[in-house]
Amino acid sequence: MIFRQAVWSEPLIFEIGFDGRVGFTPPHLDEEIIRVVGEFRLPEEVSRGEPPNLPSLSEVEVVRHFVRLSQMSYGVDVGPVPLGSCTMKYNPKVALKYAFHEKLAYLHPLIDDDYVQGLLEIVYRLERWLEAITGMDYCSVHPAAGAHGELAGALIIRRYHELRGAISVKKEILVPDSAHGTNPATGTMAGFKVVEVPTDGKGNIDVEALRSAVSESTAGLMITNPSTLGLFDENMVEVARMIHGVDGLLYYDGANLNGLLGYARPGDMGVDILHLNLHKTFSSPHGGGGPGAGPVCVKRKPVIGDLTLVDLTPGYRVVFDKEAGGYRVIEPGGSSVGLLRAWLGNVSQLIWAYTYIASMGSQGLRVAGEVSVINTNYFVKRLLSETKLYTLPYDPGRPRKHEAVISVENMKRETGVTAEDVAKGLLDVGLHAPTIYFPLIVSEALMIEFTESETKENIDAYVERLKEIERVALENPGEARRWPQNTSVTRVDNVKANHPKTVTPTWRVKTLREKGVIGPLK
Ligand SMILES: Cc1ncc(COP(=O)(O)O)c(C=O)c1O
Repeated sequence: MIFRQAVWSEPLIFEIGFDGRVGFTPPHLDEEIIRVVGEFRLPEEVSRGEPPNLPSLSEVEVVRHFVRLSQMSYGVDVGPVPLGSCTMKYNPKVALKYAFHEKLAYLHPLIDDDYVQGLLEIVYRLERWLEAITGMDYCSVHPAAGAHGELAGALIIRRYHELRGAISVKKEILVPDSAHGTNPATGTMAGFKVVEVPTDGKGNIDVEALRSAVSESTAGLMITNPSTLGLFDENMVEVARMIHGVDGLLYYDGANLNGLLGYARPGDMGVDILHLNLHKTFSSPHGGGGPGAGPVCVKRKPVIGDLTLVDLTPGYRVVFDKEAGGYRVIEPGGSSVGLLRAWLGNVSQLIWAYTYIASMGSQGLRVAGEVSVINTNYFVKRLLSETKLYTLPYDPGRPRKHEAVISVENMKRETGVTAEDVAKGLLDVGLHAPTIYFPLIVSEALMIEFTESETKENIDAYVERLKEIERVALENPGEARRWPQNTSVTRVDNVKANHPKTVTPTWRVKTLREKGVIGPLK
């Protein structure tokens, strides 16, 4: 297949257009309406001092700008994006129809419950479905991303120990060294000291190391299962027993649920709290850390008195009021960790996931999980049996779940070609790179996850390219360091690209810098 990405020297949207040019002019208010309602003016105290810095463009300019940008980018609608951990499943188009349905997209969050019974029913049913899928007692769809769900979970752990009067002792959260970076980050944000626990040679949590790390100070453990190595932790039951033995809570990062879907439920493994990534397992778009949805789920575990972990969960809650015969939104109670964002959650993403689950059905979800695991193992088997410089660290004989982490350490040692070069070599033929250099416990890591979306032919094409890359590495490693040449942006100089002088974090920073409000970078 020939691949050449478009190259446009496209300016920023703020750099095109012309002052006063518009793409849409709202109609004038009807005289009759003005006569009855009066002229509407925003109250002074909520009005801006100066107009916002918005670009001034016609509609056609806007459309062309974004179409050109889209021609220079790559997404799951173009080809496979097997980014392990940051899973990009195909996002079925049928969900778009409902997620952005005009009757839902323009609702005001303060609308009376009676007018949005259908929407509330969707949210209510989605939460119940997630409970059935995970085996947990209550799921809240309030958090806006996986990391946000984790923060909710870590705050619930904190609240649990506060209510039990033990927070002055319960100061530590244990996190395996294979964890996604968001685990230690959210544990820290919730005010805990994070203690790293090593992985053993088979890719499980090192139980002996865990035994010496667990103490009366342990507030909880954040386990990811299947782990970021794509392995199911064989010591799960023992881990749960150890943590509960010191009245710690077992937190489960359920972002990798695709590897278990329909086969096993975290709620049956001794888990107290978990979060899900709807954008990883239930097909809503990932969106670069948000806008997503990262529901947090808990067991009805007693806290103190009548309180259980359910009372500690965040956000507004949709309940079914039997007497009134309808759904109601209620505010979080006094023991809850409170509101972590506005309103119910990221509703378009919830509808997306709801549509996916409804269209798949329970059998369909099980098949999705099954196919994703088969895809991973088919890929691993083919790659390892047809090449010699790719290896599978940590118990290579054990089947992987949703993803696999391949190492190119041998390739680097023998030829100088690195994981980064391999990734660029894939980009050069129109295949998205895997996640690289993560998890940190695998050197020269390629973390690959095809999900159920990819066909055998796509996986074969990926293997063929990796074989070709190995051949180039052995015969002409210099060529590998020039990849990619066929993409809109070719090989960049990483030192320059990552230098703070080159990086402009936001447009706001750029304008403030130009106006001299903040100083230039030295
Ligand atoms: C295992 C794991 N945990 C947590 C997260 C964080 O999720 P998010 O990117 O939605 O914040 C991810 C990312 O996809 C993940 O792979």
